[in-house]
Amino acid sequence: MDLMRLDKYLALAGGCTRSEAKKMLRTGAVTVDGKVEKRPECKIDTEKNRVCLGGKNLEWQPFLALMFHKPAGCITATSDRSQRTVMDYISHERKGELFPVGRLDADTEGLLLMLNDGDMAHRMLSPKRHVDKTYYVRVEGRVTREDAEAFAQGVDIGEKNPTLPAKLVILNSGDLSEVELTICEGKFHQVKRMFAARGKHVSYLKRISMAGIDLDESLSPGQWRELTEEEKERLWSSC
Ligand code: URA
Repeated sequence: MDLMRLDKYLALAGGCTRSEAKKMLRTGAVTVDGKVEKRPECKIDTEKNRVCLGGKNLEWQPFLALMFHKPAGCITATSDRSQRTVMDYISHERKGELFPVGRLDADTEGLLLMLNDGDMAHRMLSPKRHVDKTYYVRVEGRVTREDAEAFAQGVDIGEKNPTLPAKLVILNSGDLSEVELTICEGKFHQVKRMFAARGKHVSYLKRISMAGIDLDESLSPGQWRELTEEEKERLWSSC
């Protein structure tokens, strides 16, 4: 049984602050199991009690997880005075609860997960967890088997230790090569620095998967959707 104060419940389920919740309670707009309830401290059983605001059922959705197809040209931050941020694209009613899991560079596109569960986000980013992230990468010049072997061994990107073993799949190799790279760390500019360590330049970078969740290719850059129940289960089991 999950018991919670009514004002906290309203804030989480209704996407408002606790003080806004208290104000709503005072107006008599909130009912619990059909009876007007004005006490913020009233304990709610999130599985059993039915809480309504203005006659409308407030769905209890404590865990919120979105996938966002980040376009190039915005920064991964919750706010910024001068630059466009990923949050500018999110119109979800509970947007205020969310924060991005990790960072993508301003010119990187692709999958960015956004959660309202700080502990889980923290676990996913922990260097100890080794959560897999896969990138589609366009690289100037030929990418070779030697590059794949070097990445499998670990390369020196100027940190204390070499990178952990990473998997490089060469899709095609030529003047402009296309590859998929899976890494289990998240160092600053890691993919670009790994290729730079091999004397190569990344011209396009897109994250296509993270923690077992694949980017939904039906989302255009700038679009988002909530994770499905099945994707949430996968996320929970991977971290
Ligand atoms: N590696 C990079 O170099 N940039 C990113 O945005 C993500 C991984």
